[in-house]
Parts: sequence; structure tokens; C-alpha cells
Amino acid sequence: MIEGHKAIAPPKGAAIWDIDPYAPEILAKPEAYYAELRAKGPVVFIPKYGILAVGRFAETKEVFSDYSRFVSSRGVGLDDFKHTRAWRPPSIILEVDPPEHTRTRKVMIKAMSPRVAASQRDMFMQTAETMIDDLLTRDSFDAVAEFAESFPTTVFPKAVGMKDGNPRHLVDYGAMVFNSLGPDNPIRQASLGRAPQIIAWITKACARDRLLKGGMGEMLYKAADAGEITQEEAGFLVRSFLSAGVDTTVTAIGNALYCLGRNPQEYDKLRAGPSLARACFEEVLRYTSPVHSFCRTANLDTQVSGIAIKESSKVLCVLGSANMDPDKWGDPENFRVDRKPQGHLAFGVGVHGCVGQNVARAEMDAVLTVLAQKVSRIELKREPVWRPGNAMHALDSMQIRLHHV
Ligand code: HEM
Repeated sequence: MIEGHKAIAPPKGAAIWDIDPYAPEILAKPEAYYAELRAKGPVVFIPKYGILAVGRFAETKEVFSDYSRFVSSRGVGLDDFKHTRAWRPPSIILEVDPPEHTRTRKVMIKAMSPRVAASQRDMFMQTAETMIDDLLTRDSFDAVAEFAESFPTTVFPKAVGMKDGNPRHLVDYGAMVFNSLGPDNPIRQASLGRAPQIIAWITKACARDRLLKGGMGEMLYKAADAGEITQEEAGFLVRSFLSAGVDTTVTAIGNALYCLGRNPQEYDKLRAGPSLARACFEEVLRYTSPVHSFCRTANLDTQVSGIAIKESSKVLCVLGSANMDPDKWGDPENFRVDRKPQGHLAFGVGVHGCVGQNVARAEMDAVLTVLAQKVSRIELKREPVWRPGNAMHALDSMQIRLHHV
């Protein structure tokens, strides 16, 4: 099957692998697929979609970061914007290349600087305390719906300064953006089926008159007043906050509870030294890669590890696999809160590296610090269920109980 991109012939020397990386069972449980992808070779050809895939750390980093050969402007999903119309106007930060990218990125960096993230810390801490105090009174609860989703959908609209924070729409919009990056499979169809209603809501919610003074959203409009971007671009960048800033942290919180519930001895280490919260989050990111794969498109004939890559080739960069590459990490299958996995690819790498990482870290720091202070044990009540996603590796449900210290 050929999607909205030009299928290429297998390059000489690349292993050919008859697999569907978007099959629901692989998306829900990707570890064996990651290992086989790395074992097949540095660059693998996948006939089902006529694309290449990289999953070893070195090649994934090379392709993902080299914007001069592997562009984002042709889409970071399977669709090639040179040949297909995107389902929404492309992102003016994620789906553009330098030099255009440099201008919008500069504005976003300012709006989410370490200082801005630090200024939200008290609000993040207070919200985490209130929510965790409440959850401690419960026999058990679904960690996804009742904490992983509710924390970011409470704090993030406040940080942006949104007057209209509809938690369901925010979560569904994120899912739509990430699932649209895959093939036209039932996962993408189900997400995009909700598009008309949600897009109308998002567009309104990003308008200047729907944003409070002093929030991160208003900072983007101020940059427009200063002539750094246009007013219309400011609206698009607020949309980028909402596309990329909610589903990712929802996923990260669920994944963190999963890792700590499954590894009680590691949770004990965090409790003994809550200053490990930051390092613990990095390890959760490495170990579970909330964004498991994004694409790049070769903009010229080139090569990677001696394998010729033709212009127009779509390359699936499997970040989840790179973050589990034993050649890079030694014992990747062990979750260790004090590993400090410098250079993991969960936030991307290079010019497009996650511009919201300061905010994500501040949110997670609050969640993990409060957990470590108040909760003695995270008990998994049932086997967690993963939700197949075309770009996100997220839990669907996880029944847990939090025990008091
Ligand atoms: C744990 C949470 C998060 C994860 C795992 C994550 C992951 C990523 C990844 C992998 C990229 C690179 C995409 C690429 O190179 O094509 C990225 C970029 C981006 N992220 Fe995040 N992200 C997270 C949180 C956030 C938050 C909270 C925000 C907003 C406040 C955000 C906004 C963005 C934006 C706007 C970009 C595009 C940057 C660019 O193209 O220059 N992210 N993120």
C-alpha cells in the first residue's frame, strides 16, 4: 500500500523487512520490533509503505538531526507534503526548515524559557499536591483518566493563559495531531473523525481575545506586536502549544507511574532522594519514549552508513528503538532512576529538539516530587493496557492505588 508519499525502491545493501510498524499489536508492545529493527541493519526498507526505517541510536540521531539532508518541511509523518495536502495548515515551527524555522523557534524559545517555566512551578506544585491528596483517599483509580490526563489539562491551559480549557478537546486534539502522522489506518481515521468540531474549537481558543494577560500565549502575541512574527503566526504558534504540549505530558505522567509502579526498588530510591526527580523523568523518557517515531524526508540523494538514500525517501526515525539501543546504553532494559541518560532522543535532537522541554520538566518535577513526599508505594492493581498510537506510546488505562507514607 502506498500512502501520501512516493514509495521508493529498496536501496542496495538495506535489509528488506516485511512488517507493518503501525500494526496495533506492535504499537501496543513495541520492544521486540525495536530489537529486530536494530538487528536487521543500520537502514531498513519496509515494502508495505515503501519507506526506510532507522532504529539504531547513531543512525536515528544522524537522520533526525541533519535538517540539511532530511527535512521536516515535507512532513514529520508518512505523508509527503510535496505530493499530498496536509490535513491542517502545516505547523510553522515543527514542519518547516531553517531559515524559516529559526524565526518562529526564537519566539517560542522565549515564551518557554527556563525563567517562564520556573514561574509556573508553584502552580504546578499546588495542583500536584491537591490531586495527589485526593487520590490518596481512593481505594484504586484509573491513573490515565484520573491523573495523567487531568494534571496537564488543569495546569497547561493556566500556563498558556487560556480562557477556554476544555480537557477532552485538548486531549483529543493532541491525539489527532500525533495519529495523523501515521498511515491511513483505523487509528488515524478514528482520531481525524473528530477533526471538524475540535479544529473549530482550537482555532477560537488560540485567538488573542481568548487569552489572559501574562500567560505564555499572550507572550506570542506580544512578539507579534514587536514585529518578530505576524498576528496570524502568533495564533498558529499558540496552536503548536496545544498540539504538542498536552498529549505528550499526559503520556509522560502515565508512563512514569507505570515505570515506578513496576520497579518499587527504584521508587524507593526516588523517595529516599526526591532531588532525583529530574533524573527519574529523563529515565522514564528514555525507557518509554512517549513519542516513539517521527519521520524525515530526504531532500537530496545521500547516504547513511554506506547505504544510498534517494531524494524523496521517507525515513521513519524510531526514537523508541534508539533509546533502547544496547550499544548506546549498555543495559537499556533496566529502568534506573539514577541513570541520567544524557543524549536520549525522547525530546528529539538538533534544531527541532523539543522547545517545550523546560515546561515539561517543570510539570514532571512537581508530579514526581510530590509523589515522593506523600506516597510510599504505587500499587498496580491490574495489568496496564497500552493504547496503540501512530506516534505516541501511551497507556490506555492503568488501575492503581497510591499508599500513604
Ligand atoms: C514529555 C513531554 C514531551 C515530549 C516527550 C516531547 C517530545 C518532542 C519531540 C520528540 C520533538 C521533536 C520533533 C521533531 O524533531 O520533529 C518535540 C518538538 C516540539 N515540542 Fe515537545 N515534547 C514534550 C513536551 C512538550 C511541551 C510541554 C510543549 C509545549 C509547551 C512542546 C512543544 C514542542 C514544540 C512546539 C516542538 C517543535 C519544535 C521545533 O520544531 O523546533 N513539547 N517535542
